[in-house]
Order: sequence, then structure tokens, then C-alpha cells
Amino acid sequence: MSELLDVKERIESLRAQLRRHDRLYYVENAPEITDQNYDRLMAELIELENQFPELKSPDSPTQRVGNELAGEFKTVSHEVPMLSIGNTYSYADMREYDERMKKELGLKVSYSAELKYDGLAVSLTYTDGKFTLGATRGDGEKGDDITANLRTIKAIPLFLENAPKGTFHVRGEVLLPLKELERLNKERELNGETLFANARNAAAGSLKQHDPAVTASRKLTFVAYASACFPAWDDLELLTAYKKLGLPAASPCKICKNIEEAIAFCEEWKEKRFTLPFATDGIVIKINSFALREKLGATAKSPRWAIAYKFPAESAETKLLSVSLQVGRTGAITPVANLEPVHLAGTKVSRATLHNFDEIERLDIRVGDTVLVEKAGEIIPDIVGVLKDKRDGSEQKIEVPNKCPVCGSDVYRDPEMAAITCSNVSCPAVLKRVIAHFASRNAMDIMGLGPAVIDELVDKMIVSDYGDLYAIKGANWLAFSKIGDKSAANLDHALNLSKKRPYDRLLFAIGIPGVGSATARTLAKRFPTIEKLEKATLEELTAVEGIGEINAKGIMSFFANARNIEALEKLRSAGVCLEYREEEDVPKILDGKIFVITGAIPGVSRLEAASTILKYGGTVSESVSKQTSFLITEDVSARSSKIDKALELGTKIISWKELAEMCGFEPPEPEPERQGSLFDDLTGNKEEELAARKMRNAAEKNARSENKNENTGKETQGDLFSDLF
Ligand code: IVH
Repeated sequence: MSELLDVKERIESLRAQLRRHDRLYYVENAPEITDQNYDRLMAELIELENQFPELKSPDSPTQRVGNELAGEFKTVSHEVPMLSIGNTYSYADMREYDERMKKELGLKVSYSAELKYDGLAVSLTYTDGKFTLGATRGDGEKGDDITANLRTIKAIPLFLENAPKGTFHVRGEVLLPLKELERLNKERELNGETLFANARNAAAGSLKQHDPAVTASRKLTFVAYASACFPAWDDLELLTAYKKLGLPAASPCKICKNIEEAIAFCEEWKEKRFTLPFATDGIVIKINSFALREKLGATAKSPRWAIAYKFPAESAETKLLSVSLQVGRTGAITPVANLEPVHLAGTKVSRATLHNFDEIERLDIRVGDTVLVEKAGEIIPDIVGVLKDKRDGSEQKIEVPNKCPVCGSDVYRDPEMAAITCSNVSCPAVLKRVIAHFASRNAMDIMGLGPAVIDELVDKMIVSDYGDLYAIKGANWLAFSKIGDKSAANLDHALNLSKKRPYDRLLFAIGIPGVGSATARTLAKRFPTIEKLEKATLEELTAVEGIGEINAKGIMSFFANARNIEALEKLRSAGVCLEYREEEDVPKILDGKIFVITGAIPGVSRLEAASTILKYGGTVSESVSKQTSFLITEDVSARSSKIDKALELGTKIISWKELAEMCGFEPPEPEPERQGSLFDDLTGNKEEELAARKMRNAAEKNARSENKNENTGKETQGDLFSDLF
């Protein structure tokens, strides 16, 4: 009993410490401990909660990522409607608004001015300090219950100490930092998925995920700027109270004595906003006093007490130097403008999409023209106009290509779209992209099949589709200039492993137009074999949630193409999995165990490795600490601070195969066959290597202390799962 009391006390102390550090990091921007030490506290808490499940609590900082949602998001009504704000683009409008306010209220008014955050507006309900419900704005009256996804955002506290009793709602914006948007888009490009046009779409997309683990993997953040049912007199009091409670409050919030001060604030942030790590699209100006807000009320759509000044789209003049033609995965040829570099909206711009040849004709753009580029919250700048009076007659018309710039085949114009498309289904440019997509991490995850190898495979005409990849076996890989013994063995192994990838990954990999990972998952469940999907009618396809007519037609045209069927046949004869297999229920054999992974595991992506561990009840952490139960690595001789630390602490070091044995799952990857020297350095004597390493480390440590080198104590920054993706 007394042990339980001690544990309870320790758990509460750990929770309080973690909450305090979350708050220092997200609210005060003044972290006091390294990420590694934070992870240590978290690991201890996880371990204790696993040992004493009766002490688990939904608002513990360990409980952020919940289960996948089976059906639709639940609709919830907002107790107080979430309105939008009237926009203005001119200071004259703002002055006029001020006149109206003064007249209506019969007195001088002061305003609060804040950044207009460009993300997704949400409402967070706290009851007696507990975060109980989080919803999207929806139509203002009713929104979607996205609590499970919002819980994964570390800037949103799950529990507010010293919160006012009862229920109140925190209104604010979920934001996707611009750096994270860049990372996400790079990943999406690699996977052949459409890119997010801006941070707002990306934030919305990330919150509409059915699997909170996906939301958790995007580093979303939150800022609070309004409330419903919260006891405060004005914005200053509200935001100060929020900050005290540990909520990340809007900042800066300038209290302006008159409208001119508000206008000056807009001017100040017009440029300065590009130094912020997230997107903003204007300034919100609000009557500061809540009592006056009450008096002013609202129209059906927006409150009378606020107005949003929208920043003008940033534009710049520059010269069009040349036009490049890009051939995409579908064969569509996109003209891209190469520009004289120009500074625009915080970045240097030297390229802009010209969309298609109709657009070039509409704008009558010529090479050598002075053009106007604009960025309006989107990442890719647009050419919006041509300054024709700056022409000197030397400008060159841009010809519509009649041959593919890569393979020289005829091009055709897709009657339904503006795109000019290469007619050659095996155009090398298209084929290279198709294969890169097939092999990419979220598709078949064929490690080692990188761009250089793909170029060679296609240029030497060894493959004419992805099905041909499986015909290259063992030492045949050695015929490639970029491939040595070890990579040949690894590639062979990786291809074998890829045959067992789940069917939905295969559906994503084969490049059906409009089928991203999420649609592939839905299709895999509804049409559990590739034959069933091939035979699906338009009605059957459009009956599937999330599949519209265009999508359905894309799927049907994919299967109507004999070359695709041929490629699928090759996959079938190679033994690639072409059907859906229900995930079996597994025993939670790793319950209470904390794992750290270091280095690559051949044939298993980090994400897969982590989800396997989670599936068997284990936890994955980023750094090795006393709480770590096992460090997983395939190569004990690799330079790794995690291996060193594990040796120092005596943490057990195991391979993926050993983990598989522990859990009783078939290691999905058969060991590559031994073929003389080809596979020699893939395996070694782990015990010997560990002992040697331990000695080496001890010797190095001695040498270091003798040298009395100053250790800064600075540890790697990065979040708990940064290593996983
Ligand atoms: S105050 C009427 N303050 O902009 C609701 N809203 O176009 C009062 N927004 O969806 C909200 N930054 O959610 C307020 N600093 C800020 C804001 C802000 C962004 C959102 C708001 C609304 C949209 C209006």
C-alpha cells in the first residue's frame, strides 16, 4: 500500500514536471532542460504507468496518441458559435470602421491588434481544467469532434492547473510551422502525392486524419486568441490569464489607443511577418473591452467588434530568362519559368510554375519579358502578369512542344485537361518517376533503389515497368555501375521483402491516378483482391466513401490499360502480395517495455518498426536512458551515441530478428542467402563486437578525462520521435 502511495506521488511529480516543461517550451519559449532529459522524465513516467496501470490517467502527458477512428468524425454543436471576421484590404476602410464604432458606442475606443494566424480555427473545451473536447469551426454552429487529433499537439495542455471551475472554451488556431510544411511536401513529392499548396491546407489535412498517430507525426502547434465563457474583461486580461494557465497565448497583442496605432501595427508586421516560423495573412483588430463587444453584438456571420486587415499579396517584378519543360509521373508536360532571382515574401524566388500552355497564351508571356510574380499565402509563386510596355522587341514567343522533351515522342492534349502529355507510356522520364514512386518508403519501400540505380535501369532498357524489377536477381545486380557486393545483396533482399508489403501499400505503389495512401487503404478494404478492384464498376467505385467520379474513372482507365495489366501480371508471378490480409490480434507481449532504435533495419522502415513495437504493447523512445529496456540495432559496430550509452548503462542490445523471436512473429525478412563474398559483411559476431566496443569506449573515456576536455553538456535537440521519420 505504502509503495503504491510512493509511486503515486512520483507519478504526480513526474506529470507536474513534464507539464511545467511543456509550458516553458511552448508558452514561455524558454526551455530549461534538454530534449533528452525531457525524454528521460517521460520514459520514467511511461514505465511507472505501465507497471501500475491503475494509476493511468487520460490527462497524463503520456496519453497523447490514441486509437484510430473507425467511422466519421462526430458532429458537435458549439455552445457559442464560432464566427468569422469581416476582411478589409485598405487603411481607409479601417478608418471608416473606427468612425462607425465611435458613433455607435458614443465614445473613443481602444483596440487590441493581433496577428491573423493562417491555420485552422478550433475550439478547445476545458471542464474543471481538463481538456475534454476539441472541435473544428465547421459551419460556425457545428463542427467535427477532432479531440483525439488535438490531444497529440504538445502545445495544447491536457490539463490546466488552477483553471477556473466549470466549463470554458479556448478559441485559437492550429498551425503547421513552415519548416514542417517544407519537410512534409518533400516527403509527399517523393511519394507522388499532391503537395499542400499552403500551411493552412496542410494544417487542416493533418487534423482530419483518422489515425491520431499521423497527426502526431506532423509537428503542429497551437495559439490561443479568444474564448467563450471565460471570466475576463478584455484581451489583455484574457491573454495574460491564458499564459498563466499554460496556454500559448497570441503574441504580440498590442493595445492601441486609436485606429492610427492599429494601422501602424499593420505596417510594422507587413514585412516582419516573414521572419515568423508560421504563416499569417493579416492583422485582426478587435475592440478591446468585452463589455463593449457584448453591446455591439454580431451579424449572422461575423462579430461587429472585430475587423481583419489582410496583407496585400506580395509581388515583385523580374525577368523571365527561359522556360523549362518538366515531364511528370502521368506524362503531363509542365512549363516552368526560370526567373532572374528576386526577393519575394521572405524568400528568394527563381522559379515559378506557368501551369500549362493555355496560361502562357492567356498572359501572352514571352522569354525576355518583365513579369509580375505574386505570392499570396501559397508556397509556389505565380506569374500574374506581363509588363508589356517594357518590351524592346527582342522577346521570344514560347512554342507549345509537339515532341516530348525527354523521349522525343509525339505529345497529345488531354481533351479534359489543359495538359500537353507525352504519348509514350514507357517514356523514360515517366518510367523513372513511376519506379521511384513504386520503390518509395510509403509504397513498396525498396531500400537501395535510389535515383542513380533507377536511371541506369531505365536508360539501359533493363526494365520497362516495375514488374521487371523482380526479374533481376542476386548477382545480376552487380552488372550495374553504381552497385557493389553489399548493395547487390541488400537490393536483392529488399526486393524480396517488398513482396510481402500489405496490399494497400501495393495499391498506392502502382500509381493509379488520384490514389494516395489514404484512398489506397479504403480501396484495399472494399476490394480485397486486385481482381476485384480491376472488375469494379463506376457505381461500385463511387459508392466508396471519398471516391468521386473523377477518381473512379482514373482507377478504371488504369485497369483498362494493357501495359498496366502486364506489369501487374509480372508482380503476381514474382509472388508480390496482391490481396488484403486482416491484421490478427496479437498478444501484448512487450507491455511495459521501452525500446530505442538506432540505425537502419534492412527491409523495415522506422515507421513500420515503431508500429510493430506498439502493436505488441511496447513503447518507443528516442534516447537511451535507465528506463530503456532494449536498444534495437542491426549493426553494433556502427558509430552511435545510443549504442555507447546502452553499453554504459548495461541496456540489452538486440537485433530486429531477436525482437521477432521475442514476440513470436515471423521476421518479415528472410536472411539473405549466403553466397560467398557477396553477403559477407552483413552478419558478424555480435558478442565479440560488443565486448571490443565496450573496451574501446572505456579507453576513449579515459583518454578524454585525461585531456580534461571541456564538455559543453549540450545534447541533441529534437523531439521524441524525430528519429523515426
Ligand atoms: S479573434 C470572430 N484573433 O481568422 C472570431 N481570430 O477570418 C474571433 N483568426 O476563423 C476570432 N487569427 O478564427 C481572432 N488573432 C486572431 C486570429 C483569428 C486568426 C481566424 C479566426 C477566423 C478567421 C476569420
